[in-house]
Amino acid sequence: MTNFVSRLLSRTEPMIAEARTGDAAAIAAIHAASFQRGWGEDEFRRLIAEPAVVTHRAAAGHNLTGFIMSRVTAGEAEILSVAIAPSWRGRGFARPLLDLHLRRLAGVGARTVFLEVGEHNTPAMRLYRRAGFYEVGRRPGYYDGGATALTLRRDLG
Ligand SMILES: CC(C)(COP(=O)(O)OP(=O)(O)OC[C@H]1O[C@@H](n2cnc3c(N)ncnc32)[C@H](O)[C@@H]1OP(=O)(O)O)[C@@H](O)C(=O)NCCC(=O)NCCS
Repeated sequence: MTNFVSRLLSRTEPMIAEARTGDAAAIAAIHAASFQRGWGEDEFRRLIAEPAVVTHRAAAGHNLTGFIMSRVTAGEAEILSVAIAPSWRGRGFARPLLDLHLRRLAGVGARTVFLEVGEHNTPAMRLYRRAGFYEVGRRPGYYDGGATALTLRRDLG
């Protein structure tokens, strides 16, 4: 039975949609479970409502399983945050979420996308490289604990 349930879950396709301010609490919870310094629910509500910020959510049934958020300024987008809830990682949810998000960023006029990622964050690096991001900068000691941050870039359409 357990195997049956986990097979069913592992086949679940994420439903991806634009996030709303009502998703702020669930997004804040995923963020807090994913990063050392969580951003609060109010901060997410404010960001989601900001006209220059594009936010998408991934869901499986009633569960909000992940999100991605970027700010677009003068044709340049910066991915502010992306995370999949810990129990939903490794099922390929991040890729369609990122793909749709990039298409939407292009649709609102972004020509380039930038992000910062820890150089040893293997799942994130694989995700970004496969999506066509490439390294354009490096900031040694950027993160607490001294890890190097890489700046990645992706050119859109
Ligand atoms: C990065 C993150 C969003 C990826 O989400 P995900 O749904 O688990 O990713 P996917 O299942 O689509 O896998 C993405 C790639 O990472 C690989 N991967 C997944 N988990 C892995 C692990 N534990 N170790 C190594 N590689 C892993 C997958 O094989 C895939 O690579 P491939 O396409 O070359 O096979 C997720 O790990 C996360 O939320 N991490 C914490 C927050 C974070 O670090 N965000 C990025 C900050 S820049």
